[in-house]
Formats: sequence, C-alpha cells, structure tokens
Amino acid sequence: MKVTALIRKDLQDFTHYASARRQAKQGTVWLNANELPWDVSQAQLNRYPTGQPEQAKQCLANYYDISPQHLLITRGSDEGIDLIIRLSCQAYQDRVLILQPTFSMYAFYATLQAATVDTYQLSPDDGFTVDVDRVVQNIQPNTKVIVLCSPNNPTGHCIPLITIKALAKRCTDQCIVLVDEAYIEFCETDSAVTLIEQCPNIIVLRTLSKAFGLAGLRCGVVLAQPALIDWLSKLLAPYPLSSLIEPHIVQALQPKRLTAMQQQVNQIKHAREQLASQLTTLSMIQTVYPSFANFLLVRWRQAGNIYDACQQHGVILRDVSSFPGLTDCLRISIGTEMENQTLLQVLIDYGRWQDE
Ligand SMILES: Cc1ncc(COP(=O)(O)O)c(C=O)c1O
Repeated sequence: MKVTALIRKDLQDFTHYASARRQAKQGTVWLNANELPWDVSQAQLNRYPTGQPEQAKQCLANYYDISPQHLLITRGSDEGIDLIIRLSCQAYQDRVLILQPTFSMYAFYATLQAATVDTYQLSPDDGFTVDVDRVVQNIQPNTKVIVLCSPNNPTGHCIPLITIKALAKRCTDQCIVLVDEAYIEFCETDSAVTLIEQCPNIIVLRTLSKAFGLAGLRCGVVLAQPALIDWLSKLLAPYPLSSLIEPHIVQALQPKRLTAMQQQVNQIKHAREQLASQLTTLSMIQTVYPSFANFLLVRWRQAGNIYDACQQHGVILRDVSSFPGLTDCLRISIGTEMENQTLLQVLIDYGRWQDE
C-alpha cells in the first residue's frame, strides 16, 4: 500500500513549518526564536519546547510495545482525531464513516473539515455488533476515514480485533481505519496496535486521560506506521506540547505507577460490576448495558426526570438520550465507592418518593 493514497490530494506537496526549534541543530547561544534570554520561571519556560519530547516518547513506545517512530504525542487524543481527518479528507469532497451511537468528536472534526459524515447504525438489540459486510456496503468511493471506537463511548461495547482487521483489509488502499482505544485499559482484549504492521491503514489512538487519571495533562498518542506518523506530524502546530508535560508522562509510565494504574483499573472494573448489579434491582431502570469501560450506559423509564433528580442532589450524569438509538439513556462514569453509593441513594430516594 502506498501511504500517499490515504493523504488528501491537495496536501501531497505539503511541507511542515520549520520552527526555530526544529531548524536548530546545535549551539549554546540561542538567538533564533525571539525568546527572552532570562529564565524567570526557573523551569526554562522562557524557551519554546521541543515538538516531541524524546524521553516521554521512548517511555510511551515501551508501554505500547512499538518503536518511537510509530508514535506521535498530541494534545489529548482529541487532537489526534482532528489531525487524521484533516490529513485525509479534502473539504467538500470526502467522507467519514462513523458507527453510531459513538463519541461526538468524530462528527465534530469531520464537519469542521467540511467532510460529509455517513453513519452506520448499531443496534442495542444485538449488543451493538459490527457487521463487516454491512459496514463495507456503506463505504463510498470518496470515504477516507472509518472510525471504530473500542470500547465505544457511550455504549461501552468492544469491537473484536478480528472485525477490525477484516474491515481494514477490505479498504486498504482507500480508507484510514481510525481505532480509538481511549478506554482499552478497562477491557481485556488486545490492542489494535498489534495490527499496525499487517494493516498499514490502521491508526490507533490512545490517551493518558482515562486509566492513567491524567485528563488535565492533555496527552494523547497516535500510533501508526512511520510513514503515516511523518505525515501527521507535518500538520501539527509548531510547539504543540507544553514543556511541563514530559516529566508527568515519564513518571506515569514508571513500573511502580503502572502497577498502581492497573490496581485502580481493577478497582474501577469491580465497582462497575457492583454498581451495574445494584442498578438492575431498581424499578426505574430498563437496561444496564454490559460495559468494558469506566462507565455504564443505562436506559431508564424516564431519563429526563432521573437526570434532574440527580442534578438537584449534586450528582451529575451525562445525558446521551439525544444520541441515535439511545432514547432515555444516561451515561454514568464510575466514581469512588462513596460517589457510587451517593448516586444509588439518590435513586432509591427518588423511587420511594415516586411510589408515595
Ligand atoms: C472515545 C474517546 N476518545 C477520545 C476522547 C478524548 O480524550 P483526550 O482527553 O485524550 O482528548 C474521549 C474523551 O472522553 C473519548 O471518550
């Protein structure tokens, strides 16, 4: 496969902005970037940062079990979605195919890029199963990106690797298959990173915002074949990452912290199952969907009233009832034991009040 087949035609000759940092080779007297010479912060914040901090990159590469050349650090995986769509979709010509219901940012960035958004509707009745043949039927000649979110937000279901691979193989020279694995640490399946060598059109997104508990850091990671990573890096802003990010990434990936992360993930998974079984006993609930992430999708008898009742007691849920196929659904992030119990108590009290 030629990687240029996946790149927007009007970008084929695009070269990245040669920032002062990128251009500089070596030296000790820095007079090239219009910075102030004094380090008032005492943390070298008077200097522009390097685009991709090397040590952080190496630590991430070790964690994802791939080389640093296969990896790009971005401002959250949100930025990764934006870059991939901008790289591959020509405005007013190309299309992005998404599997609804799913995370809203895919359609958001596609619309910003003036790409048409096509949707393939998943059904809760068959556990949101993805049928490869039916997805392929929805690929148009100018479809450039197919988005698979696994585990999917907000349904919590996983897409088997065999399905991802089959789909990627069926559109090798035409589409990027973007696999968003923001929540994969909460689920037992292997990552689609293992498919990148066999399927050069797969791009995987990971993040430190979820299992690592570092949403405020804004560290997303794009993983793909080096040729695609090189292309994506051309689209990056000159200094995309704060200089303050690197030590936090390096620390988060030390063996001790990885063990702690795994323990917290196990704790969340246990709490998820416990909360799911407690919720199913409540009469106001229609369905608690199985989840492989750190949240539960729940269908209620009257979602609007439940949302308001929770809000009145300071418990904030995510209203996803306007997502296609998710009427009366709310999404619950798994909190601490106390937070989950607070939610349950609000629901129990609400149920009692309804019965009176
Ligand atoms: C599926 C999915 N992908 C990506 C993101 C964005 O994550 P980040 O914080 O890395 O930008 C989210 C955030 O909720 C998400 O649910």
